[in-house]
Amino acid sequence: MIPSVIALDGPASSGKSTVGALVAGRLNYLFFDSGVMYRAVTLAALLRRIPIADEAAVSALAESVQIDVLPPLFNDGRQCTVLLDKEDVTWAIRAPEVDAAVSQVSAYARVRQVLTGQMRAIARRGRILMAGRDIGTVVLPDAELKIYLDASAEERAQRRYAEQAGRGGKESYDDILAAIRKRDAFDSGREHAPLVVAADAATVDTTGLSVSQVVSRLLALIKDRETA
Ligand code: DC
Repeated sequence: MIPSVIALDGPASSGKSTVGALVAGRLNYLFFDSGVMYRAVTLAALLRRIPIADEAAVSALAESVQIDVLPPLFNDGRQCTVLLDKEDVTWAIRAPEVDAAVSQVSAYARVRQVLTGQMRAIARRGRILMAGRDIGTVVLPDAELKIYLDASAEERAQRRYAEQAGRGGKESYDDILAAIRKRDAFDSGREHAPLVVAADAATVDTTGLSVSQVVSRLLALIKDRETA
């Protein structure tokens, strides 16, 4: 049997979502991108004009909103459908305003506790590939397979630049690189569940590799862990 619960961690734009969705599709597993949950709470705070710096108010909000992550439902390039209190926010959570505030929201201990509990409940159903920053270290420390995807900051900025330009975005490469470096430093330096490589994770450096090459490496790792 191949591992039923797979943890996939790595920094911003390391390819977790693209590669994770493809690998999950090949295995017929649920692809669950945990970042969407932090993004949904951030969007809710912005929409309700709750100051992002108000930790108590943002934490209370995380406890009260209902976030659902469903299969795609529409064929518009989405890897899943994200509902915030039953409203489709799949694309709204990708806005630059959310990008700019989500690291701060995800650094709040109570927000992490609430969302981590919801993620564990979903993972208990099995046949899942869960992507994030702390899945192998904190959310699912018992995951049967842990993979850490990495790539240089420049390569990740190039990928994000191409992706947003394709959607008509106007951010420059330099601005994107600066934002990625800032987010890396914040995500790695925060007090609660910082981005670290789990001791028992297999690291895959994707710099210079195509999407299909990374998918093949991951499928090979998964096959390696196959048990009778
Ligand atoms: O992967 P992403 O860019 O959608 O993640 C958004 C933010 O959420 C990012 O700043 C890191 C944070 N995050 C986290 O702290 N833990 C996770 N398991 C997933 C995302």
